[in-house]
Parts: sequence; C-alpha cells; structure tokens
Amino acid sequence: MKIMVTGGAGYIGSHTVLELLKAGHEVVVMDNLSNSSEESLNRVAELAGKKAEFHKVDLLDAPGMKELFEQTRPEAVIHFAGLKAVGESAEKPLWYYKTNVAGTLNLLDAMEAVDCKTIVFSSSATVYGEPEEMPLTEKINMDAQSCYGRTKEHIEDMLVDLAASDSSWNIALLRYFNPVGAHESGRIGEDPSGIPNNLVPFIAQVAVGRREYLNVFGNDYPTVDGTGVRDYIHVVDLADGHLKALDFVAKNGGLRTWNLGTGNGYSVLEVLHAFEKACGKELPYKIVDRRPGDVAVSYADPSSALADLGWSAQRDIDTMVADHWNWQKNNPNGYEG
Ligand code: NAD
Ligand code: WQD
Repeated sequence: MKIMVTGGAGYIGSHTVLELLKAGHEVVVMDNLSNSSEESLNRVAELAGKKAEFHKVDLLDAPGMKELFEQTRPEAVIHFAGLKAVGESAEKPLWYYKTNVAGTLNLLDAMEAVDCKTIVFSSSATVYGEPEEMPLTEKINMDAQSCYGRTKEHIEDMLVDLAASDSSWNIALLRYFNPVGAHESGRIGEDPSGIPNNLVPFIAQVAVGRREYLNVFGNDYPTVDGTGVRDYIHVVDLADGHLKALDFVAKNGGLRTWNLGTGNGYSVLEVLHAFEKACGKELPYKIVDRRPGDVAVSYADPSSALADLGWSAQRDIDTMVADHWNWQKNNPNGYEG
C-alpha cells in the first residue's frame, strides 16, 4: 500500500516508517521538521535498505497539503504530526489548537480531495483524564485535563463525526500509553529538544552525563513505593500496532478505537532501577514536589487490541530501557552529534 506518514521524521513516526518499509509498503513522509531532523529518515533508509519519499510541508499550509496529496496520491495516512508537550500547551493554547486541530482539518480536506479515506490517528491515554477505575478501557469517557489532551479529544470527536457522516471513511484512533525505548540497532530513537519532559529520556540524559540527577515528582502517591505508576510501551511494539490497526480498518471499514499499552504499571523508582541495571551504574535522584496535573496511576486494558488485531506488546520494561540506553549511549547528543 502507498502510505503517507505525517510527522514521520519524529520519534514514533520514524520507527513506524521503518516497520512499514520492512513490511513492503511504499512510504511518503511529510514533516515540517519543527521537532525532528531528516537524519532520522536517512538512518531509517539505512536500516530498511530502501527510502521513504520525503516532503517538507507544514500541516498549516492548506494549499501545500492539497498539492502534496494531488502529487503523491497515497491510499492511506498515518497521522503523527503535531505538538505534544503538556506544559507548553498551557502557555500556548492557540498554537496547540491551531497545529493539532486546524492542522488535522487541513489534512482531512487534502485527503478527501483525492478520495483517500483511510487514516490512523495518534491519540493518547491522556484523553482519559483522572478516572477512578483501573485499568483504563476504551469505554471510559474522555475527560482530558490539559490543553494538549483536549486537542486530542477534539480531533477524535471530529473523526467520529466524519465517520458517522460518510461510511466510506476507515478510521483508527490509537490511544498510546507511555512510549519509550528505541530500535534495537541504536540508530534511531527519541531526541527531545531542550530539557526532556518525560521520565525515560530524562533518566537517559542523567545516565549519559548530560544532567546531574533525576527529579522524582512526589513519593507520597498511593502506589507500591509512593512514586507515580505508568504503562510504558516499547516504541517498536507501538509501531507494530499501527500496521495492524491500518490493516484492520482498511479491510473492515468504519471507525475503531484501541488502547496501545502493555497492561502493566511501573513506578518511577522501578523504571529508574531498571535503567541502572541496563547502564550498569547508580543514577542519582532527588525527591521533589508532585508535578501539577500528574495522576497517581495509569495503565491500559489492552485486551481490545489483542482481540481485534491480534496485537500485544512483546517487549518488557528491561528491554525498553536497555534499548533506550543503547540509543542514548551511541548518540549522546541525539541526531546532532
Ligand atoms: P515528535 O515530536 O517526535 O513527532 C511529531 C512530528 O511532527 C515531528 O517530527 C514534528 O517535526 C512534526 N510536526 C510538528 N508540527 C508540525 C506541523 N505543523 N506540520 C508538519 N509536521 C509537524 O513526537 P512523537 O513522540 O513521535 O509523537 C507522535 C504523535 O504521537 C503526536 O501526535 C503525539 O501527540 C502522539 N503521542 C505521543 C506520545 C509520547 O509520549 N511520545 C504519547 C501519546 C501520543
Ligand atoms: C511519567 C512519570 C511523572 C519526569 C506524558 C503526557 C501524556 C503522554 C505521555 C503524549 C510520572 C514522573 C517524570 C521527571 C518524574 N504524551 N516523572 N520526573 O506524565 O505519564 O505522560 O507523556 O500524549 O500526554 O502527559 O509521562 O514520562 O512525563 O511521566 O518523576 O523528570 O514519571 O511524575 O509519574 P506522563 P512522563
């Protein structure tokens, strides 16, 4: 199949492009490179033995998006492009709504104009907000607690309305839990700009000597050791979930929503200790105040993805952090170095 991957130069996008190429698909990447580097795609080509076609286009450039779709005529889209920092979204809400929501509208218009009606969308477990019940099933109502999360809710709502209006659309909404790790080669991985917001990239920078210690945000949660518990998922398992979801909706039609998580929760200190084992050294940390907006525990019920797609995460927490460390130690300054 000819597949357009928006945001394909980014972290999850680049890993997915690699799996698509390996599976024999023809891949076109569009990305404005605002949070990524084309070097990720050079390395994907090296690993796959073939290249994805690349176009530097901005989601907000509506005529440019139309032209791109008319020129490339993909049969399906995997839509990763967008902004993802929770804190930044509170400071720049209009920028987040514009990029994520208006950008997705431009994409859908461009798709419709060439009769491309199959899309897999990167949603997030963050749409669940702070529900009491665990694990999180797809049936729980969306109640995002951040501007970033609400942009994901708006896009999901838009896609639900679109599917209801026209049954020829095939749509997968994928709610990811906490993506970590890297391709086993250590050639591609997560390369955050500035200070990492997320736990594992931060720990990796402590391990490689770019940061002095980890701040652990709170140790008084009702969890195994008082620190926050999350469902970490290996990025290659996540990429594989996209191929299976695309295949399913392309064959069966309609709109479907799936959680992509492992179903297991690990605390901050458990992740830190797993990383220490992977890198073979002790990593300093300090307990600081809770981070506003954080929930105590979040983990998936991934049984729908297993039942419908035959998908389940294959890589455990030790593999996740070992692969993340392999990427970080080989690329201490990310793609720049
Ligand atoms: P990323 O920042 O590495 O990738 C996003 C890509 O989109 C980047 O390459 C960036 O340059 C591109 N982009 C941003 N704005 C653009 C625009 N206006 N036009 C064109 N391209 C643009 O992020 P990621 O971690 O790979 O996340 C991919 C998707 O998955 C995002 O939609 C994100 O919200 C979602 N998601 C991520 C996580 C996570 O923790 N990483 C969790 C759940 C959902
Ligand atoms: C994990 C745990 C922190 C950093 C975020 C987004 C979510 C999704 C994934 C996109 C928590 C603790 C963290 C640090 C710490 N992204 N922590 N010290 O908050 O579950 O989810 O990324 O959709 O929308 O909100 O992930 O990696 O930031 O935090 O102690 O320096 O690690 O408190 O318990 P989170 P995270």
